[in-house]
Amino acid sequence: MTRRTRILQAGRLLPSLEQRLAAAFDTVLLAEQPDPQAFLAEHGEGFDGLITSAGVGFTADMLERMPNLRAISSFGVGLDRLDLAAARDRGIAVGYTPDVLNDCVADLAIALLLDVARRVSEADRFVRRGDWVTPGAKSFPLARKVSGAKLGIVGLGRIGQTIARRAAGFDMDIRYHTRRPVDGVAWKHEPSLVELARWCDYLVVITAGGAATRHLIDAAVLDALGPHGFIVNVARGSVIDEAALVRALVEKRIAGAGLDVFDNEPEVPRELFALDNVVLLPHIASGTEETRRAMADRVFDNLQGFLRDGRMVSPAPLP
Ligand code: DGY
Repeated sequence: MTRRTRILQAGRLLPSLEQRLAAAFDTVLLAEQPDPQAFLAEHGEGFDGLITSAGVGFTADMLERMPNLRAISSFGVGLDRLDLAAARDRGIAVGYTPDVLNDCVADLAIALLLDVARRVSEADRFVRRGDWVTPGAKSFPLARKVSGAKLGIVGLGRIGQTIARRAAGFDMDIRYHTRRPVDGVAWKHEPSLVELARWCDYLVVITAGGAATRHLIDAAVLDALGPHGFIVNVARGSVIDEAALVRALVEKRIAGAGLDVFDNEPEVPRELFALDNVVLLPHIASGTEETRRAMADRVFDNLQGFLRDGRMVSPAPLP
């Protein structure tokens, strides 16, 4: 009897993907082992493939305990928790799920922008509290206009460009900051992030996470954004100096924030809970049934493609 391919699943996945994997391969869930480290040390050599996610990732240490590993397929577009250099050194193929989530992440960035600008969540709380029907209560405060306003985008990859196209539908004036200008786009490149922040009404952050962008948005950028500027983060919590952001919001040095990501998820700085001009989401930018299904399909297809003919559909860019 031929041996079935053995796959280690690092964390929980969509049930439909888990079922599909279990039907095709021998799968073991690492997160379910009482002592995952001891399990890896004892059984790691038995695995041919690893399924992980942008949130869980993998380390060089994990790979060392899996000497026969040939392929890794990750659920998500983020690469900041994937030790790609370690995979490259070992000749292990890595796949991820770009493109299929561009629309949903861009949609959510626009949703956050509209929410903080037009005070949507705050107005919802106003109605639910009964403030609208309370005789003599203050009327709901005026919001800020989005259509025609100035939008700064930090990072202009696939998702950043999708956000820009959405924003163009709101007649926004769009500029972006990246290390180098992006070829073939009409939006104006701004080489200085501080200048971009000073210029715009809304600053949307959608650059890759990791060491290269850690605290790219610091107190100086927030001060340049100023008391009339809003920030939206659908990238990684690490891109913004979170302590500086909390201070800027508490001291009203910026107008508000829409945040889908945090530095130490699922922990969210408590000081933000009391602020009406902040919208807090539990990292759900790609979280629609359609997109998560497409991501799950890509995770499976990457692994299967590699096992069949040595090719991932979406190979991760190795350093
Ligand atoms: C991604 O795909 O990287 C999302 O942010 C989910 O982690």
